[in-house]
Amino acid sequence: MKKILITGGAGFIGSHVVRLFVNKYGDSQIVNLDALTYAGNLENLKDIAEKPNYTFVKGDITDESFIDELFTQYQFDSVIHLAAESHVDRSIADPLAFIRTNILGTVNLLNAAKKIWQKDMTGKRFYHISTDEVYGSLGEEGLFTETTAYDPRSPYSASKASSDHLVRAYYHTYGLPVVISNCSNNYGPNQFPEKLIPLSINNIKKNNPIPIYGKGENIRDWLYVIDHANAIDLIFNKGLIGNTYNIGGINEWTNIDLIHKICEVMDRKLGREQGTSAQLITFVKDRAGHDKRYAIDSSKLMKELEWSPSLQFEEGIEKTIDWYLQNEEWLDNILSGEYEKYYKKQYADR
Ligand code: NAD
Ligand code: DAU
Repeated sequence: MKKILITGGAGFIGSHVVRLFVNKYGDSQIVNLDALTYAGNLENLKDIAEKPNYTFVKGDITDESFIDELFTQYQFDSVIHLAAESHVDRSIADPLAFIRTNILGTVNLLNAAKKIWQKDMTGKRFYHISTDEVYGSLGEEGLFTETTAYDPRSPYSASKASSDHLVRAYYHTYGLPVVISNCSNNYGPNQFPEKLIPLSINNIKKNNPIPIYGKGENIRDWLYVIDHANAIDLIFNKGLIGNTYNIGGINEWTNIDLIHKICEVMDRKLGREQGTSAQLITFVKDRAGHDKRYAIDSSKLMKELEWSPSLQFEEGIEKTIDWYLQNEEWLDNILSGEYEKYYKKQYADR
């Protein structure tokens, strides 16, 4: 039985990847390693928790000896590494947490994989999940390709860029069989409500202000999370060792247009008069170093591995809003306690 380690599997994207792999690969043992930080939530995986090919391990990737022992115990055949501190605003407030998890944690995993695979790397694979933010910020024209020079501009993106460089260094220096993908903004069920889309859905539901940084003119390229999980599955199985694949939604929105779209759908779903939710839009102080535009050229992935996004944004956003409206308990469990403190600190003097 092949043993696949998935890190960060209790988080937003990780939980969709774990579910896909547990259900699709019954002949593989899927081990989900997650520290269960504020962003990790085992509720995300309750439907597959009892499956015989699924194991959850609570642990921290920054703990070198723990990681070493885990790899020695399980002798993993491959790793899909998603665990990370992932929110740009938190990286502005506390960069060190990002350096520890995203850089040190990644190196611990690389070292442990190198150690158990060094005699024979045949059939082994270390798949590092990264972000388009490593490429920096675009003007009005152009797209990020796999050869765009790195130009990270937030502590989050700098820590992810650093981890990408280290993964490539282990390929060139030690021959570790690595593959990397860099994806655009994900949206969908189970996303922690610190990120723009779930935060806005929740605030609209509660009739609270929707905070838009600056003038709302920044542009993001949104991809439904299941389409990202499917791309990860393809790249895991068919991606070429040493290669990088960009993944994007071909779906650019300014933040303000995106929020108007969400307000329109929410008004319809909540039986409010059109235009009601949009009145909650509040322009607040901009994010420091706010990247203007991200947009991804996924043509390599589309041509070489025949991937394409399956959902139109209109359908994806309806599904996402329905999920949040139908999973009030999931949201309420998060909103009590720590989240309230974070929200006050992040938005109080904006
Ligand atoms: P998330 O914040 O929802 O989840 C991160 C998970 O990692 C959580 O379950 C958390 O408990 C776990 N974790 C954090 N620190 C850990 C540690 N030290 N040890 C073990 N586990 C730890 O993040 P996400 O949005 O699902 O992103 C997953 C990955 O995908 C990240 O690497 C991120 O950089 C990348 N990514 C995210 C997006 C996006 O739009 N969300 C886009 C492109 C790439
Ligand atoms: O591009 C991929 C990246 O997308 C991932 O690597 C990150 O992990 C993920 O968090 C996301 O980063 P962003 O910073 O783009 O996502 P966020 O949802 O935080 O913000 C989206 C846009 O909305 C951005 O331009 C900032 C803006 N924004 C965000 C928040 C939280 C607001 O205007 N108001 C807000 O309250």
